[in-house]
Amino acid sequence: MYDSISFPGHSIRDMIFGLDVLVKLDNNKMIPAINFDNAATTPPFKRVVEEIEWQLTYYGSIGRGRGQMSEHSSRVYDNGRERIKDFVGANSDIYTVFYTNNTTDGINKLASALITSPKDIVLTTRMEHHANDLPWRERAGTEYAEVDAKGRLVIHDIERILRKWRGRVKYVSVTAASNVTGYVNDVHTIAKLAHRYGAKIIVDGAQIVAHREFCMLGQTPEENIDYFVFSAHKMYSPFGGGAVVGLTEELNRHMPPFYGGGMVEAVCDNEVRYLPAPERYELGSPNYPSVVGMLKAVQILKHIGFDYIREHEQALLKRTLEGLKTIPGVILYGDNEEIADRVGIVTFNIRGLKNKDLAGFLADRYGIAVRHAAFCAHPYVGRLTRSERGQDYASARCYPPEGMVRVSFGIYNNKAEVDWFLTAVNRICRRRQAM
Ligand code: ALA
Repeated sequence: MYDSISFPGHSIRDMIFGLDVLVKLDNNKMIPAINFDNAATTPPFKRVVEEIEWQLTYYGSIGRGRGQMSEHSSRVYDNGRERIKDFVGANSDIYTVFYTNNTTDGINKLASALITSPKDIVLTTRMEHHANDLPWRERAGTEYAEVDAKGRLVIHDIERILRKWRGRVKYVSVTAASNVTGYVNDVHTIAKLAHRYGAKIIVDGAQIVAHREFCMLGQTPEENIDYFVFSAHKMYSPFGGGAVVGLTEELNRHMPPFYGGGMVEAVCDNEVRYLPAPERYELGSPNYPSVVGMLKAVQILKHIGFDYIREHEQALLKRTLEGLKTIPGVILYGDNEEIADRVGIVTFNIRGLKNKDLAGFLADRYGIAVRHAAFCAHPYVGRLTRSERGQDYASARCYPPEGMVRVSFGIYNNKAEVDWFLTAVNRICRRRQAM
């Protein structure tokens, strides 16, 4: 099951751009590159590139022109909003979709519109990427729910904070899946808690969209997700682009703090009347190629199916963890026994070796691309590594944590790549011990 599935005559690997490109190792040997850095960004689907090319043949100005091509492009762009809603299970009239550059851009746009006073309180967590921490930290009062010793989010802590502030928390903003450990959070349970205490919930979907089916609507309205934010470049369409799916009524009560064409109904000498969402959040000419690429990627992911994607990536995760556990000197982070609530991300270190050197050896000697250091999630990585450092992550001086090496899978990675990676780690460890 690892290597191929049928998708109109293609294996998954055949559908991706740039696989098996030869890269030069330190010893000048050329070998096929292995990309285990999909949590950072994914290569494009070939059909996404074809779609962009095709749509550019008919490209005209979006929402501004009268020619046939402009009308075609405007229609594709606008109809795409319904396709995005369908993709994230937001099949209800209460939501609007506005397009963004990426998740960071989407969360910043939300934070700058929704936070109206530095006294507003946002509850986020110690598991977040900086993109779901700093935009709130810089504009509002922030409270942080803790993670446990294995790095899982402590949901009781969310309730404790909500209770402590008795209805004053305005938003709970939480990641759907961690970019460091891959833990998937139970965001519908968190939504229920947030709503019980009068808060709304915002979900950072960057690490979930390409790996698990996501549905904004819960079993009951209390479990509904109010805002969902994600990037196209993590789902095989790396051309900029992303989306915010959020509550129309609330978006219409707020204004983003940036202005320009495309967001107004009328501008008079002394008065401006702004259009409602989504237009008021999409000023300037949009990045049309990013939108058509993202829409194609959505279609392909749905066609492949999230049952397959989940099963495939879980199998790679399991194989990797089982292999790493047998190698003396490997330190693994997170819960590596119960892995059903993790997407395909593994973080590790080799005792006595700097993460930067380990990542360098994997790339330069074995052609394996990974990410290392603290993954724009310093508070979380600091907590995961605290027992090794014997230091307090919340110490008075602010410094980056030591970090780790991360392997993150996409749908096209396979068993042979995992086995080559395990061979590489084994050899690096043995060389280290022989020194
Ligand atoms: N957030 C991306 C990562 O984790 C860039 O690598």
